[in-house]
Amino acid sequence: MARESIMQSQVPSDENDAALRPKRIADMIGQSHVIAVLRIAIDAAKKREEPLGHILFDGPPGLGKTTFATCIPREMGVSVQMASGPALKAPKDIIPYLTNLEDRSVLFIDEIHRMPKAVEEYLYTAMEDFRIDIVLGEGVSARTLNLQLKPFTLIGATTRAGMLSGPLRDRFQIREHLGFYTHAELTSIVETNAKKLKLQISGDASREIANRSRGTPRVANNRLLWVRDFAMSQSDGSVDRDIVQRAMEMTGIDELGLDRQDRRYLETLMGVFAGGPAGIEAIAHTMNVPSDTLVDEVEPFLLRSELIIRTSRGRCAAPKGYQHLKISPPQDDSASGNSAAGDDALPLFPE
Ligand SMILES: Nc1ncnc2c1ncn2[C@@H]1O[C@H](COP(=O)(O)OP(=O)(O)OP(=O)(O)O)[C@@H](O)[C@H]1O
Ligand SMILES: [Mg+2]
Repeated sequence: MARESIMQSQVPSDENDAALRPKRIADMIGQSHVIAVLRIAIDAAKKREEPLGHILFDGPPGLGKTTFATCIPREMGVSVQMASGPALKAPKDIIPYLTNLEDRSVLFIDEIHRMPKAVEEYLYTAMEDFRIDIVLGEGVSARTLNLQLKPFTLIGATTRAGMLSGPLRDRFQIREHLGFYTHAELTSIVETNAKKLKLQISGDASREIANRSRGTPRVANNRLLWVRDFAMSQSDGSVDRDIVQRAMEMTGIDELGLDRQDRRYLETLMGVFAGGPAGIEAIAHTMNVPSDTLVDEVEPFLLRSELIIRTSRGRCAAPKGYQHLKISPPQDDSASGNSAAGDDALPLFPE
């Protein structure tokens, strides 16, 4: 009971996502290498009474980039402003953020790779010398005002580090890649968050949710919230492995964490294209789904799980994919390229 009251005081009873997001670095699970680097940098910056060096986080969605960016200012005891790359359309859009900076405060720019070049270049002097030039007036009467900024820390987050220009990337002193979480780490996140939600859950139920969460804390949180609702509605509210399995089955999430669309992709590749190689456009047309959706949302996890492979001639089903769907792979040589897909096979697709 005492524990419950502690939980209550820690968690504002507002939105679930805000409630589940760790508030301090000590509450974050996994990413131990990143945390170790940050702890040293934060410690040194505090001792020197200087701002932390600029930090860039990259990695797939839902792995903790925004969480780090909100925890770091708390550790430093400074304020933070949040901006988003796509909303910064011109240099004038970023000026208010820069002029509002306080000493050692943090400016967080999410999806930083989506800032236009002009804004990016405008940031160079701000990052390096804490200085910007503001043009006043227009035409021949225009004047340039040189403005000194408060020393600050820029934290950038991106899902596409490759799309950042070299000069911008090099201006970040700390660059950390966030990788996927292990099953054990995700299990621990599920257990911690179940406590925050005051949910009774068994150990094997937590593990079952973690195993179906694609190495991603955000997915684990969403699955946990769904399982909680399912348990409340269909049972007495407590969660065991059977409840998890039934809840997951209802939303079409299988033991590996694949959803219906992922399995349809595999079935199309194996059934229609005899396992490939098949071009992404051909698969997309057959499934009647935009090829971007397949490339961005479906294929990364299938590739990572070694259920498919990408070759210069197109996508192929991998042995693990056949095993997972319990389909027997084609036996004869014709399966390796002369099938219906052969003509449509496109060259290697960049990310
Ligand atoms: N290390 C962690 N420990 C515990 N929970 C975490 C951790 N990292 C992320 N989470 C949880 O996952 C959720 C999603 O994380 P976050 O919003 O930081 O992802 P992101 O990398 O910013 O994703 P996107 O690229 O989509 O913006 C958070 O609300 C938080 O609850
Ligand atoms: Mg984010």
